[in-house]
Amino acid sequence: MAPVAMPSALTYELLAKCSVTKARAAILHLPHGPVPLPIFMPVATQASLKGLTPEQLEETGCRLCLNNTYHLGLKPGQATLDAIGGAHKFQSWPHNILTDSGGFQMVSLLKLAKVAEEGVRFLSPHDGSPMLLTPEHSISLQNSIGSDIIMQLDDVIATTSPDLARMEEAMERSVRWLDRCIAAHKYPERQNLFCIIQGGLDLNLRRQCTKEMVARDTPGIAIGGLSGGEAKDEYCRVVDACTSLLPEKKPRYVMGVGYPEDLIVSIALGADMFDCVWPTRTARFGNAVTANGVLNLRNAAFSGDFSSIEEGCQCVCCRPKEDGGLGITKAYIYHVTAKETAGAHLLTIHNVHYLLSLMKSARTAIMEDRYPSFVKEFFRKLYDDKS
Ligand code: GUN
Ligand code: ZN
Repeated sequence: MAPVAMPSALTYELLAKCSVTKARAAILHLPHGPVPLPIFMPVATQASLKGLTPEQLEETGCRLCLNNTYHLGLKPGQATLDAIGGAHKFQSWPHNILTDSGGFQMVSLLKLAKVAEEGVRFLSPHDGSPMLLTPEHSISLQNSIGSDIIMQLDDVIATTSPDLARMEEAMERSVRWLDRCIAAHKYPERQNLFCIIQGGLDLNLRRQCTKEMVARDTPGIAIGGLSGGEAKDEYCRVVDACTSLLPEKKPRYVMGVGYPEDLIVSIALGADMFDCVWPTRTARFGNAVTANGVLNLRNAAFSGDFSSIEEGCQCVCCRPKEDGGLGITKAYIYHVTAKETAGAHLLTIHNVHYLLSLMKSARTAIMEDRYPSFVKEFFRKLYDDKS
């Protein structure tokens, strides 16, 4: 165990708690500025949100985005990151960055990745040579990236795996790897290391892991290994069991969650931070995320629809020209989205803005202590009000 108090480069300022659910509103003060919680963090895999400039991402209201250690470590590589002074400078992003540790991406992207006690073994996608990502190497790369929040290397097993012994091994290994990450972290006074709770769908493993992780006293805590096709009630049971054992004054991040309805439910269970590629990936398939559900704007039904993607949306695409927006219509997206990338870029802007403004409305509802009625209204619009 490593019970020594770790320096922290964040403050979690709790503003309000819902009197019925476990929802919280807070401000997370990070090295590159304050972030309102709850928050959705879009994923900019290769140091850019596919199709968007940093200015466009900023315009959506985003103040904390995700980068991947695995991708940045391969390209531009550690030497380039060190030479330029980190990912903020490299991608001209003045706001906060969170990096995932890389192991999860490797195991999910590369079929040939194998986990051993030293780390994750895989074959280089460049030349097929054997490589090893250790907890120490992941932290060293994240130190070079300079991200405001860095994640521990963890051993992730599909939640749907029936192998409880392997699940227990992965949970215990993730705790050992956290200790190695803590020991390797060079800049705890300017980068916040988050632990990741594992343990699959087994509540005993989850509780045991949560206690071990909390004892390490990292500045923030993530719940991992979810959003892998498990049933919603099992997902909720796990998040609920973990948040019940977490300290009040630290941010809680549920990894890989991005459907609006999952965010709304997870907030009620006491979670504060979320990320997912879905809202940006689905934009590239012509899908707009709205309060009434997902609209596929490649559908010919929209060819003559001259209304905005979502009525009243304040994103730069939907806002009317006279209010300084682009005044984009569904018919225009239908027209350009099949052949050109412009449609995908516009939908990416709208979708990120939608999720950020949903988080803002949730936050306001928590502050005004009306989160339960907010949740009810959200689901009514999503499922009943399809006019
Ligand atoms: N992204 C989604 N789930 C996970 C997880 O369990 N661990 C890590 N490192 N990243 C994730
Ligand atoms: Zn919009």
